Amino acid sequence: MHLPLLPALLLSPLDALHALSTKYFSVFLSSDSPIYQPTAMGAADGNYLLGLGIADITGPVVETNMMGYASLGQTDTGLHMRQRVRAFLVADPDAPEERILFLNADIAMGDTGARRLILAELAEEFGNETYHEGNVAFVGTHQHSGVGGYLENLLPQLTALGLSNQSLSAIVSGSVLASRRAHASLAPGTLSLGRGFVKDGSRNRSPTAYLANPEEERAQYVDNGGDAGDQEWGMDVLRFGDGENERGFLSFFAVHGTSIYENNTLISGDNKGMAAYLYESSIEPGAMPGNQTYVAGFVQGAVGDTSPNTLGAFCESPGKPYDGLPCVANSSTCGERAQDCHGRGPAFASNSGDAGYGLGAGYGFASNVEIGKKQADAARAVLGGGMTSVKGSVRSVHVFVDMATHEFVLPNGTRVGTCPAAMGFSFAGGTTDGPGAFDFIQGDNKTSQNPFWEIVKDVITPDPSKEQVACQYPKPILLNTGYAHEPYEWSPGTVDVQLLRVGNFVMLIIPGELTTMAGRRIREAVRAELISSGVVGEDAQVVVAGPANTYGHYITTREEYSVQRYEGASTLYGPFTLEAYIDKYTSLVSFLGDVPPIGSPPSDEAPAEQLSKAISLQTSVKFDAAPIGKRFGQVVQDVVTTAPYRSGQSVFARFVGANPRNNLHLEGTFLSVDRLDSDSWTTVKSDSHPSTLYRWTRESTVLGTSTVNISWTIESDTAPGIYRIRYFGDSKPLIGSISEFVGSSSNFTVVVS
Ligand SMILES: *[C@@H]1O[C@H](CO)[C@@H](O)[C@H](O)[C@H]1NC(C)=O
Ligand SMILES: *[C@@H]1O[C@H](CO)[C@@H](O)[C@H](O)[C@H]1NC(C)=O
Ligand SMILES: *[C@@H]1O[C@H](CO)[C@@H](O)[C@H](O)[C@H]1NC(C)=O
Ligand SMILES: *[C@@H]1O[C@H](CO)[C@@H](O)[C@H](O)[C@H]1NC(C)=O
Ligand SMILES: *[C@@H]1O[C@H](CO)[C@@H](O)[C@H](O)[C@H]1NC(C)=O
Ligand SMILES: *[C@@H]1O[C@H](CO)[C@@H](O)[C@H](O)[C@H]1NC(C)=O
Ligand SMILES: *[C@@H]1O[C@H](CO)[C@@H](O)[C@H](O)[C@H]1NC(C)=O
Ligand SMILES: *[C@@H]1O[C@H](CO)[C@@H](O)[C@H](O)[C@H]1NC(C)=O
Ligand SMILES: *[C@@H]1O[C@H](CO)[C@@H](O)[C@H](O)[C@H]1NC(C)=O
Repeated sequence: MHLPLLPALLLSPLDALHALSTKYFSVFLSSDSPIYQPTAMGAADGNYLLGLGIADITGPVVETNMMGYASLGQTDTGLHMRQRVRAFLVADPDAPEERILFLNADIAMGDTGARRLILAELAEEFGNETYHEGNVAFVGTHQHSGVGGYLENLLPQLTALGLSNQSLSAIVSGSVLASRRAHASLAPGTLSLGRGFVKDGSRNRSPTAYLANPEEERAQYVDNGGDAGDQEWGMDVLRFGDGENERGFLSFFAVHGTSIYENNTLISGDNKGMAAYLYESSIEPGAMPGNQTYVAGFVQGAVGDTSPNTLGAFCESPGKPYDGLPCVANSSTCGERAQDCHGRGPAFASNSGDAGYGLGAGYGFASNVEIGKKQADAARAVLGGGMTSVKGSVRSVHVFVDMATHEFVLPNGTRVGTCPAAMGFSFAGGTTDGPGAFDFIQGDNKTSQNPFWEIVKDVITPDPSKEQVACQYPKPILLNTGYAHEPYEWSPGTVDVQLLRVGNFVMLIIPGELTTMAGRRIREAVRAELISSGVVGEDAQVVVAGPANTYGHYITTREEYSVQRYEGASTLYGPFTLEAYIDKYTSLVSFLGDVPPIGSPPSDEAPAEQLSKAISLQTSVKFDAAPIGKRFGQVVQDVVTTAPYRSGQSVFARFVGANPRNNLHLEGTFLSVDRLDSDSWTTVKSDSHPSTLYRWTRESTVLGTSTVNISWTIESDTAPGIYRIRYFGDSKPLIGSISEFVGSSSNFTVVVS
């Protein structure tokens, strides 16, 4: 029996009062049972405590490598939309220490180092019995247009020139802030589940590997989406609250966050960030992005072999006979080059969205809106349709698994093991979403363009031993990262295995990118175990979420592994990687039961912290200066004042700028579009509206000068009136401290077109 006092302390004072009063109320009601656990107010009856929160995690938007494509040339130069983290908290009112905190972060992948820092801050603030390793999931949306350099391991830092502490800190502080907001908003509510469909929402980017899976198995899924079932177009939705009290949702759908191409250098949220923006702003159109109370979570699923480039992959080989033709299917090459083969999103032909920004065609922004909109529409359809209410316990379980040396028994009784991490040759070839990312690694002895690589290549991965070659077979090893520990770990050896449960809904939090078929196998294996062990009934609904917590790269089926395309080459721990995960996740199912086993499940040791050894070659901002006779924020190219603007047009102004790394403006904005209402200005757009762009240009490193170009593409529903554009900057003098300034364009007129 729980005394309400202790759990109540974990709540905000108001919620605690509420919890106490309802608790006592239910005690009086249940007179026939002196031990009243669970009460009529508890999770068993579908009553939960729910909390939601959102926060800004946008790191430095210039002079920092972007994360996802791992392309040295993709250094950011400005901002399209801010990155956010969305926090979803569920607790059992009967036992509020039974809670789960799901962080859906608009980043490429979760990370061990970032998660460790988040957990430490949450433990300090709320106590480690409230939020801990077990019940906090740190999930990335797998977008490829965010700020990089935040990961703890060396391999994903390669193109970022090491660690960017500013990027990492923004993610950590934002994740803690969103959690704090969710915690403070805890209030009674209900949960419901539904399932929808995102037609043409993704395409398989390695269909020839998918075909290696047994025909009988593929036959079970022919109607699930994609080409003969090589994709999952189903979307699972968990709604928080209902009716007047609907507060948000978590939706699960797999599609790579690669709608925006590798040649874009503006920080953005890709298609899941766009879906969340579209949804949240449709509920609260007047609120600034990130300042809504309704929180829409678009979570990544079994993303490994999915692509948002739904038209397929084509050769961009000007002057060659195959220019514009589909790439060679099994190798994704054009004239034997991977670099020319590019996927195309649904709006490839029109590109109107891009043209509207005045950027010139072809960065994928228009397709990004399409793929984001498909997901937002699918979620809306589920939420508006029949959903079933969720009842039952809130549970979580987490262990560390040392995947370098993990031995286990296959269902057929044979003992097998995983191997220390290694990347195969096809890893360097990249994918049709972003080809040839690591081409400098395949290196002969030429000097690469990457100074970080020049430092670490000599300590590079020792030649693989005979055992490692045999263990990883048939993967030809390019980078033997599991044996590379200097100057710090290149790849994770130990990963997080975690499961969360609310009622009949179970979330497998995956430290990597499962392919479509791998996702099905693990989901079905865990579901079967949940049912056969009596933890959940026949209505068990299981989803996967990731890449989360640790980035353990890809997870293919053994058959796909044998084909060794990019996904197989990036399956770190050898051919039995997926089977090892299936074995581990199913073995933990009993800990999700209403009456879980006493104690914690056996866990390997937590991976050693790497951040203290991190190398960083990113230099700090030296100083900013305005050109002689000018001041920071002064307009150097003004808006047009002699004629009005109409919707569809782009209005822009350029200012004397300063480095935005001086102040990230977290929870704020680098710009505003203001409208004159009677005699005062109302801000109508921030830097997070997709219709605005913030672009920074370094004019002279020696003189410390730079300019900022701010543009706004006027939406069709814009009210006519007088407007202005403002720029919020911060400059760093050679000596002294950083100071803020504001620039403003002239007033301009928008008329109805
Ligand atoms: C909380 O911290 C204490 C002291 O460090 C430790 O003994 C305990 O296991 C921690 N609890 C959790 C849930 O992590
Ligand atoms: C990174 O930034 C955080 C917060 O600003 C600071 O506390 C920490 O010392 C920094 N770490 C390094 C290695 O610079
Ligand atoms: C955010 O919303 C709150 C209340 O809804 C409001 O007071 C505040 O001004 C808003 N902030 C911004 C930046 O719009
Ligand atoms: C691709 O298919 C062609 C023709 O079927 C075959 O000759 C070639 O070896 C295949 N390449 C790969 C990488 O599988
Ligand atoms: C500023 O942005 C506008 C709109 O995107 C563009 O047309 C213009 O060329 C840009 N100017 C400069 C100097 O970058
Ligand atoms: C950006 O890359 C895409 C995909 O390769 C390409 O189609 C497009 O033309 C490129 N855009 C620009 C402006 O170079
Ligand atoms: C069990 O399956 C593995 C992997 O397919 C295979 O290598 C092994 O021979 C099988 N063992 C038995 C006893 O069939
Ligand atoms: C690199 O240089 C070494 C020594 O000169 C040579 O033995 C090796 O074959 C070269 N490797 C490649 C890939 O060219
Ligand atoms: C813009 O309009 C405001 C309000 O009428 C006025 O105070 C201000 O002087 C105008 N700015 C310019 C640059 O004309």
